[in-house]
Amino acid sequence: MNDIILNMLTRRSCRNFSSRPIDEKELAQIITAAKFAPTALNTQSYYFTVVRESSVIAEISAVNRKLLPADYIKRVETRMGNKPFCNFYHAPTVIFISSEDVPFGIADAANATENICLAAHSFNLGSCYIASFLPAFDSEEAPRLRSLLQLPANQIPRFAVALGYPEGATQEAPTRKEDNVSFIG
Ligand SMILES: Cc1cc2nc3c(=O)[nH]c(=O)nc-3n(C[C@H](O)[C@H](O)[C@H](O)COP(=O)(O)O)c2cc1C
Repeated sequence: MNDIILNMLTRRSCRNFSSRPIDEKELAQIITAAKFAPTALNTQSYYFTVVRESSVIAEISAVNRKLLPADYIKRVETRMGNKPFCNFYHAPTVIFISSEDVPFGIADAANATENICLAAHSFNLGSCYIASFLPAFDSEEAPRLRSLLQLPANQIPRFAVALGYPEGATQEAPTRKEDNVSFIG
């Protein structure tokens, strides 16, 4: 197995982070990897917001704390060893991936998001792909949160990645389904 495949097979969602900051050079390479993800018609419709300001992360979490179902909040807290709710698992860095309202904008953002997770893993960083923060950006608080992220008007938040050094044991990989491949010919 080559190193690229091994990197894909060993990446896991991380939900416990230490507060140790990420190396600037590694962060720059992670963003470059995101920008080299494929985009439909090469629109490069995405936009990246790297947030290391914990008050901004906390603001978005606090809005979602009120919007998300109680059982989801409880599950997140349990997953973090009963730390208080944080939509981004108290990661020291969160990258928001937005994209324009173009036909394949969500796919453009999703491809970039996965590249971020894989690039992070290649530096032994933990990452978690996150969509559950989106209700906050559909709520009446959206203008305030968009302004906190300094988001250009034509950009729609799609996904986020919680990023940092993992703390504690990494979770076992969920088993993958076996019956979802056909070979024709
Ligand atoms: C589009 C998308 C949205 C996701 N949203 C969340 C999320 O909001 N919170 C979370 O903890 N994990 C989220 N995940 C991570 C998945 O739960 C995780 O990838 C899946 O359980 C498989 O585990 P693995 O990443 O360790 O292989 C999301 C993944 C994807 C692709």
